[in-house]
Amino acid sequence: MFQSPLSHSILKRAQDAGIVDIVLTNIRDFAPDSHKKVDDKPYGGGPGMVMMPGPIFDCVEYVQKLLPEKGRLILLTPQGQKFDQPKAASLSSENRLILISGRYEGFDERIRVGLGAEQISIGDFVLSGGELAAMVIIDAVVRLLAGALGDENSARDESFSEGLLEYPQYTRPEVFRDMKVPDVLLSGNHAKIAQWRRQQALERTKKWRPDLQKNDNL
Ligand code: ADE
Repeated sequence: MFQSPLSHSILKRAQDAGIVDIVLTNIRDFAPDSHKKVDDKPYGGGPGMVMMPGPIFDCVEYVQKLLPEKGRLILLTPQGQKFDQPKAASLSSENRLILISGRYEGFDERIRVGLGAEQISIGDFVLSGGELAAMVIIDAVVRLLAGALGDENSARDESFSEGLLEYPQYTRPEVFRDMKVPDVLLSGNHAKIAQWRRQQALERTKKWRPDLQKNDNL
């Protein structure tokens, strides 16, 4: 599941450039039996399977020992704190992250309690496993690392970096199907352009994502 997203575009370039090192470890390799079983029926009954604590503990302990620094431990679960841009920024300042993904029916509670892992959710919906959530986090975090994007400014200006949506962008042609690029962007007046963009960002945020606006920008 991880190979393809990790081997394209920014994630690939960042790894090739030595900006990030991503190591995949399969929890199944730590299964106690030859069937590679890492989940079991829930005590008390009910549908679905629950991730067993043993293989996850063994796996995490193995991974932690690979480097001197233990790393910030994160469990992907819909019960977690919601992932957002400030969280991505916070994670991008860490030297080491360990992301734990399970198939989602749930984790044995002793995994959360015993590992003391921080729980993160990528949104209020249930995925069939934490792998895609981990990839979302990896992508959002790695692109914030110094040198990961070609242009250092692009991570600064974009949506959410100030709690605002991004201003509208245009490229060639100047007129497309009777829709014209706003004159101000062709004016060459940088102060005016900056002012227009800021105004647009504020208006769009107010209209489309008023929930983002905790502050006095609006
Ligand atoms: N695993 C299953 N659903 C998830 C979600 N929404 N966020 C993180 N991990 C998950």
